[in-house]
Amino acid sequence: MKNIVVLVSGGGTNLQALIDAEKRGEIEGGKITCVISSKEGAYALERAAQNGIKGIVLPRKDYADSHAYSKAMLDTLKAENADIIVYAGFMTILDEQVCRAYPYKMVNVHPALIPSFCGKGYYGLKVHEEALARGVKVTGATVHFVTEVCDGGPIILQKAVEVKNGDTPEVLQRRVMEQAEWKILPHAVSLLCRDKVKVVDGVAVVDE
Ligand code: GAR
Repeated sequence: MKNIVVLVSGGGTNLQALIDAEKRGEIEGGKITCVISSKEGAYALERAAQNGIKGIVLPRKDYADSHAYSKAMLDTLKAENADIIVYAGFMTILDEQVCRAYPYKMVNVHPALIPSFCGKGYYGLKVHEEALARGVKVTGATVHFVTEVCDGGPIILQKAVEVKNGDTPEVLQRRVMEQAEWKILPHAVSLLCRDKVKVVDGVAVVDE
């Protein structure tokens, strides 16, 4: 059984989708053993507690720079015996010491169809604001491996979502979550737990 550690910073609806999928028996071969938050008071921690999952607060603000924070995160992940690490609305960039320690074991959910609206500065509502400002008619979500390149790791799953006339960033965000993120994130984690994803020449291949 693989230990799944979920990294969060906010409301944790993606964490909830993972918890619900696990309860339905959809994450065969894995168990959410710990939730680590970069922010104190994140509602995601409440969700963990309500479901009997260990919660750890590792505040980003307590560390001078990304390197020091990444070292603390690496120590915590090792102490928790993490096998698979999931960024679920985790808004902090960890440096290469973490991704090198867990090659193709860390995944992130991003609220757009990468390579659109991604990279440094594209997170949360900002992604949907930019999509609406550009006038795209289709957006969506991506689950990808975390590498040293921000939002640049091999793409595991994507799902498209329609943009509608009159959408606000909040309305679009909710639709992308409901129709894409909350489905493809648990699915991708389930694939990883069953060793169904390999990377060939920098491209993730799903073998289901
Ligand atoms: C989600 O839309 C997630 O894709 C996004 O933040 C939201 C977190 O919501 N993540 C990023 O933008 C990372 N670059 P949640 O806390 O309710 O899961």
